[in-house]
Amino acid sequence: MSVLLPTLPPDRQCYPRALDNPFRRVFAPPSRDLDLLDLQAGQTVADLGTGVGYLVREILRRIGPQGRLYLADIDSENLEWARARLKGDPRVTIQVGPASRRPEIADSSVDRVVLSLVLCCLADKEGVMAEAWRILRAGGQVYVSYPRRRRSVSRRRSSLRVTPERWASLETARGWEVLPVRPSWIVTRHLLRRPKVTGPGG
Ligand SMILES: C[S@@+](CC[C@H](N)C(=O)[O-])C[C@H]1O[C@@H](n2cnc3c(N)ncnc32)[C@H](O)[C@@H]1O
Repeated sequence: MSVLLPTLPPDRQCYPRALDNPFRRVFAPPSRDLDLLDLQAGQTVADLGTGVGYLVREILRRIGPQGRLYLADIDSENLEWARARLKGDPRVTIQVGPASRRPEIADSSVDRVVLSLVLCCLADKEGVMAEAWRILRAGGQVYVSYPRRRRSVSRRRSSLRVTPERWASLETARGWEVLPVRPSWIVTRHLLRRPKVTGPGG
């Protein structure tokens, strides 16, 4: 693969242009992911690991003028692409930083968290799921997707892969309710809900 693509510097996860391309628009349009989340007007959404903002316009269309959107990514260059799409939209807060620590988002303040193709790119998966739990309101949902492929183009990517065992431990680490999702042939998808009534320590 490195014959076809220049090697990424260690602080970059992916090529911005690879995240929004005609192939993805046809085979995995934003509506595919967002239909699962049942977004409603006025909701607050956090799209963590935003990348270049592939999903942001469609999220904003669905949450309407009273909605609120938080975006965060460790890669400031990717976020600049997202920022350019948004043209200063006042509903959106953009921060550079890790998905596992989002101090600008208050506890239990978000209706939906989007982790699209993100857990496969970072080591601290537990930290990100813990942060999703913290910021979600009771009854709020987190959408997670990652590639279905079994092998990865690089050893580093392979080590970050979300294996079924890894996912099982993330899913059961808290009191998540697992919601049904329609399978996709491109990505593995999960939808979890923070229950309305939590147990001790929740
Ligand atoms: C494959 S891209 C997916 C981007 C976007 N969610 C999408 O669906 O197009 C993964 C993104 O996660 C970001 N990322 C990687 N590690 C991160 C971390 N610890 N915290 C926040 N973002 C991270 C990368 O910079 C990259 O923009």
